[in-house]
Amino acid sequence: MEIIVLPDSDAVARTAADIIEERLRRGPAVLGLATGSTPLGTYRELIRRHREEGLSFAQAQGFPLDEYVGLPASHPQSYRSVIRDEIADHVDFAPGAVHGLDGEAADPAAEADRYERAIAEAGGIDVQILGIGTDGHIGFNEPMSSLASRTRIKTLTAQTRQDNARFFDSLDEVPEHVLTQGLGTILEARHVVLIGLGKAKAAAIAAAVEGPLAALCPASVLQLHRHATVLVDEAAASRL
Ligand code: GLP
Repeated sequence: MEIIVLPDSDAVARTAADIIEERLRRGPAVLGLATGSTPLGTYRELIRRHREEGLSFAQAQGFPLDEYVGLPASHPQSYRSVIRDEIADHVDFAPGAVHGLDGEAADPAAEADRYERAIAEAGGIDVQILGIGTDGHIGFNEPMSSLASRTRIKTLTAQTRQDNARFFDSLDEVPEHVLTQGLGTILEARHVVLIGLGKAKAAAIAAAVEGPLAALCPASVLQLHRHATVLVDEAAASRL
């Protein structure tokens, strides 16, 4: 694991954008796109580079990492909407190049298989951007997720529903189930970039980076990855 501590969230966003830009400039790239507030600065920086510096996504494909079960694609908090609104609609992805998970699929297991096949057909993910939950989850792989898991349906913990309630009108509206890339799926990305911002993530970052490899902290599985970069601001690094 490569740990890079940067002074603030802007510096983290620029460094994450540098990694993605470098890969985009090398040719057709497959990007794994996380939601949550953490990657938003990175997406804003990529949009700026697209507009001002001609950075192109025309040859790239994108795979949103996870999705709420039961929300239609048009719901503003579905992760398909969030990825469209925060990045995809503002750059030049080709039509159909961003492949979300369908949270309304009648058969979630079949949808998970379809999504895994789509990643394989794209040639695998080149750069996977990740945030981290306060309980150490990545994607929606909650504590005790199998370290070898594939894309599947999961039940959210009360903690994660509470953490994400700020995006909804009330806690009751936060879905209880999600589809998420598994930890085994995430490990197959060629480069994983985990971003942690702010004091609220300090304990989870410390457990992921310095704690034991344990299903209790799903992000600790990245200790097994051959090319994992952890980008943190000073606050998120404060317990390292
Ligand atoms: C959600 C997402 C994760 C994200 C996490 C942290 O649970 N599924 O991918 O990392 O939230 O969110 P935030 O970046 O808003 O703190």
